Amino acid sequence: MDCPIILDTDPGIDDAVALMVLRRFCPERVKLLLASYGNVSLERTVNNALTMLELLDWQVPVVRGADGPPRPDSPREDAAHVHGADGLAGLGKSFPRDCAWEGDFLQRVYDALREAGQADYIILGPMTNLALLLKRFPQAKERIRRVIAMGGGIGLGNVTPEAEFNIHCDPFSAAEVLCEMPEVVLAPLNVTNRAAFSLEEIGRITAGASPAARAMERILTMNYHACVQYGETGSTMHDSTAVLCGLFPELFRLERCGIAVDCGEAHYGRTVRTEERQNVSLAVDGDIPAVLRRIAESIP
Ligand code: RIB
Ligand code: CA
Repeated sequence: MDCPIILDTDPGIDDAVALMVLRRFCPERVKLLLASYGNVSLERTVNNALTMLELLDWQVPVVRGADGPPRPDSPREDAAHVHGADGLAGLGKSFPRDCAWEGDFLQRVYDALREAGQADYIILGPMTNLALLLKRFPQAKERIRRVIAMGGGIGLGNVTPEAEFNIHCDPFSAAEVLCEMPEVVLAPLNVTNRAAFSLEEIGRITAGASPAARAMERILTMNYHACVQYGETGSTMHDSTAVLCGLFPELFRLERCGIAVDCGEAHYGRTVRTEERQNVSLAVDGDIPAVLRRIAESIP
């Protein structure tokens, strides 16, 4: 078995599809799901994670992570306009509070890393949780084989013309993670924007009778209309594409570089390539039809 995975996510519709991809290709590797604020509130992302795990008949411990960026003056924007008020196109259930672990989540994640020996840390939302972990347990760095993340855009953004949502939520933490971690696989908007399903494709890939297929048909259709309304070409699979970058790197062209994050007012949340470091494998292109096929085959 390849090394274990710690999944840090803010479900969110495209996060939910990424969960299906992980369930399809490496369910045994995912040891812990750390819910983060981001697309919607932490309360909703925790319940959406539990909703998806129940739908996929998948038992993974869910842990409540950070409920906001560490700096109180950070702008607080969610993405409910793309994912629905509940973050899952109205399908999100509400579970008893004790269905998710709450408390010192940094200790819980660090204990999971020590138990795993070493793990891949997948981030599909803001980078707040990992930045906090590295501050509290600097030695955690040695237990993370690589970070696989969806985030950033080189010369483009989706919150501002130059800032992508996950980075814009907390650029200070993103700057720390992208500078400190020795191995990062990063899938930016330049590639993920291209992995979008049309309505026809949604109808075809969700034609199955399973509860998951029925749910996917509903949430991807809603996501399609929301994404197109905001200028995307279809239901955009940002997070699944990032996960596939880690699972099937042969589907992508990756270039080594560093990534710098702007935290100043002028270019808040902008990501740029830098040659100061060579710790990032940046996805610059990909076999998008093959990526979409892998996602489609993840729908049970
Ligand atoms: O910009 C896209 C990213 O922001 C995705 O992770 C999506 O889920 C939202 O969190
Ligand atoms: Ca996400």
